[in-house]
Amino acid sequence: MAVRLGDVAPNFKARTNEGDIDFHEWLGDKWGVLFSHPKDFTPVCTTELGMVAKLKPEFDRRNCKVIALSVDSVEDHNSWINDINETQGVTVNYPIIADTDRKVADLYDMIHPNELDTLTVRSVFVIGSDKKVKLTITYPASTGRNFDEILRTIDSLQLTAEHAVATPVNWKDGGMCIVVPNLSDEEARAKFPKGIEVIKPYLRTTPQPNR
Ligand code: BEZ
Repeated sequence: MAVRLGDVAPNFKARTNEGDIDFHEWLGDKWGVLFSHPKDFTPVCTTELGMVAKLKPEFDRRNCKVIALSVDSVEDHNSWINDINETQGVTVNYPIIADTDRKVADLYDMIHPNELDTLTVRSVFVIGSDKKVKLTITYPASTGRNFDEILRTIDSLQLTAEHAVATPVNWKDGGMCIVVPNLSDEEARAKFPKGIEVIKPYLRTTPQPNR
């Protein structure tokens, strides 16, 4: 069964290069990003995992933990991490799940057999501090992800969890926001002291409330 938005992220126990974990315990009260990649010792994955190591302070700043997954062993992960560190100029600073029995991959429907028969595709699950799945993205093996975009989605998810706004196309932290449709103009003016602009009755903007 696919994991859908709003579902509680399925819990699991797994081996990682940083030791055994219970996923929910590992998350604690933080947000989380669980992302799979097809295979250790592959070129696109090497660049992705290096970039996540570089961006780790940005995930930390958002109170968000990151964890990778592939169906390779801890021994392979440790050996490959040396290559990632050497070639990407980083120190991998987050765990990689060794899902050799594909238990987690099956639980999260990360294997798409018509794309890659036994390997995981590039799945991303953003999980809120309430353990619910807030966002999923799936890329094929041949397309490396843009982790700046994943940080941007976390900014939007965290903002819209706290304030009655949505974020428009290509929004970035600090940009104009959309007033959610279920607020009347009067309620919106009371809620957003910086003001609202009514472009159409259904299209209303306001400056980002927490900036
Ligand atoms: C890669 O990470 O480069 C990759 C992995 C599997 C298939 C194609 C590319």
